[in-house]
Amino acid sequence: MRLCVALDLPSSKENLELASKLKEYDIWLKVGFRTYIRDGKEFIEELKRVNPNFKIFLDLKLYDIPNTMADASEEIAKLGIDMFNIHASSGSLAMRSVMQRLSKYPNRPLVLAVTALTSFDNSSFKEIYEKGISTKAEQFAKMSFESGLDGVVCSAFESRAIKEITSKKFITLCPAIRPFGEDAGDQKRVATLEIAKDELVDFPVIGRPIYKDKNPAKKVKIILNKI
Ligand code: C5P
Repeated sequence: MRLCVALDLPSSKENLELASKLKEYDIWLKVGFRTYIRDGKEFIEELKRVNPNFKIFLDLKLYDIPNTMADASEEIAKLGIDMFNIHASSGSLAMRSVMQRLSKYPNRPLVLAVTALTSFDNSSFKEIYEKGISTKAEQFAKMSFESGLDGVVCSAFESRAIKEITSKKFITLCPAIRPFGEDAGDQKRVATLEIAKDELVDFPVIGRPIYKDKNPAKKVKIILNKI
């Protein structure tokens, strides 16, 4: 398992301070929509200055027509980040176009597909996709695997089943992790690190349990010891 810390603080300064506290660790950092829109690629450069070995996951969840997605993916590849994501519901053609466009980059970033957003409950999900979340998440995972993606964003509770129908090597990145049963906040189905391990999660994504802790560096150390 590789720990991915969500940099979800409200300002660039606070996110950089958090990154500095964690600079001695071999970790991934998740840069989301809000941060990237506000702080742009300079923020990525600043993170790399804090520690050039930080791995960066750009969580932009692209969804558009195939050509536009491929164009955007190419620009993302030029940023020197290590992983990003697109929506599986953008379709096989869009996913294949992205992978084909990136194939000219020998050190291309890993590409993950978002299966189901965790904000959906089953009935609001069905309104759009007509099937239940876990059935559809597995179908999206299979589609993403067949389109050449590297993995998916999914719930820890879907990770094992997804690997069974795709490949053990197909990456699962899972938010809603509460390492030792901390407060769930707005997350619905939370998993502990113990569960994440059992479910073969590759990347647990952890935000609040780390940045809301009074000693984030110590918390990361404890988490790394556990995984
Ligand atoms: O603070 P917490 O550990 O709940 O943070 C989880 C992170 O994962 C947040 O950045 C959240 O936006 C993100 N995320 C999520 N569910 C998804 C995709 C991303 O919670 N399906």
